Amino acid sequence: MRLLLGIILFYGRFGLSFTAIGYFVRRLFWRTDGDRLDGKRVLITGASGGIGAATVAGCQAAGASVTAVARDAEKLAGLNASLPAPVESEVVDLAEPADIDALLDRLEAEGDTIDVLVNNVGVMLHEHARNSAGLDTQFAVNLLNQFRLTERAIARGVLAEDAIIITVASGGMYMAPLIIAALATEDAGTHDGQTAYAVQKRAQVALNEHWQAAHPGRSFYVMHPGWVDTAGVKQSLPTFRRLLSPVLRNAEQGADTIVWLARQRPEDDSASIWFDRKARKTHAYGFTRDRSQPTDTLVEFLEQQLASSDAT
Ligand SMILES: NC(=O)c1ccc[n+]([C@@H]2O[C@H](COP(=O)([O-])OP(=O)(O)OC[C@H]3O[C@@H](n4cnc5c(N)ncnc54)[C@H](OP(=O)(O)O)[C@@H]3O)[C@@H](O)[C@H]2O)c1
Repeated sequence: MRLLLGIILFYGRFGLSFTAIGYFVRRLFWRTDGDRLDGKRVLITGASGGIGAATVAGCQAAGASVTAVARDAEKLAGLNASLPAPVESEVVDLAEPADIDALLDRLEAEGDTIDVLVNNVGVMLHEHARNSAGLDTQFAVNLLNQFRLTERAIARGVLAEDAIIITVASGGMYMAPLIIAALATEDAGTHDGQTAYAVQKRAQVALNEHWQAAHPGRSFYVMHPGWVDTAGVKQSLPTFRRLLSPVLRNAEQGADTIVWLARQRPEDDSASIWFDRKARKTHAYGFTRDRSQPTDTLVEFLEQQLASSDAT
């Protein structure tokens, strides 16, 4: 009964908006794509496919020098083969703390700061998995390691003083309050990838608010792409994809707001999530607000998890 109510609330409210139909209607009113990105360095995670790869193409077309980060060298080579000119690529498993620290070492050694960081990587794993630090892999990829990469890139001077940081969440967070205990699961028995995904995406929104307050001078945005036909959706939500495939967005449409934010740099709005080039409310239903834990509690939890993954 609760599941049915959730489906009605979610699809009834967002069904049309998140599809390509919502995109086509809204784009009729868009007047400018923003400034070009010539001379800017953009680093995009989860860049070998889907929305990440489309973001690479969009930022390159706008003149940026792009670093594409993903775990599979062959897929990164495939990405480069599909572009008008190759971009720099970094093979990094974003589930693994040591891989991220090694990336930061390389970026720091290069000395060429990053102007735009896109925390795009995101997974929904139906099987429970752990990274080498023993942490829930989905939690590590979707949240903790984005915290690690962003915080440490700032601390190590890898992100420019006036950098833009864009984090890719999901409209699924409209159905989830921020419950710290639901961010990571201990074992297969308690793991529910889809529920954890929504809570992790809610947590990205809260984290973005924290970052805006904690790091003035830089611009932090959290966005969601709508419903996009990608390999990730095909694998994680096959029924959803089968039913909605005629109206899903393509990857370029999913990446549109990311590239636009990088180009336009609109005024920060801490209580917003960006979607189709507009700042939107972060809560659609009272229950997600009422049951949410405070952002400070989230940040403390992430700091603890970071320390414990460093210690292993
Ligand atoms: N598609 C949608 O409808 C939708 C809706 C809402 C939000 N989003 C969000 O949008 C973002 C992109 O989604 P997508 O649909 O484009 O995903 P996708 O098709 O699954 O692509 C994800 C990319 O991340 C890479 N990746 C996955 N795990 C990694 C790891 N541990 N280390 C390094 N790279 C890794 C993948 O490489 P491999 O191919 O090697 O795995 C791939 O390049 C995610 O944050 C997702 O949650 C998507």
